[in-house]
Amino acid sequence: MTVRLCQWSDVLEGIPLRVVGPRSRQLAVFRVGEEVYVTEAACTHGRAWLTEGGQQGHHVHCPLHGGVFDVRTGASVSPPCTVALRTYRARVEAGFVNLAAE
Ligand code: FES
Repeated sequence: MTVRLCQWSDVLEGIPLRVVGPRSRQLAVFRVGEEVYVTEAACTHGRAWLTEGGQQGHHVHCPLHGGVFDVRTGASVSPPCTVALRTYRARVEAGFVNLAAE
């Protein structure tokens, strides 16, 4: 079973979109070219939404302390973050971003 998160046209490169996923989880949807990536939306370091930070290519910058994550893997690539983000499998289908079943 797939879960529809949003329209692909609503996801702009460099501007991550926060959406509500299954079990009311706050998720972040990223566009890099024609690729889509989905991670948890909250920074693992503190109380901040990564969707309010900047995105450059595959990197998202936390707005609070400047930590950086790779949206492909969720890996923390710059301090002060040390804990990886959870990532989710997603695809673009018929103009929508769909989350694969867990
Ligand atoms: Fe994100 Fe501190 S809350 S780096």
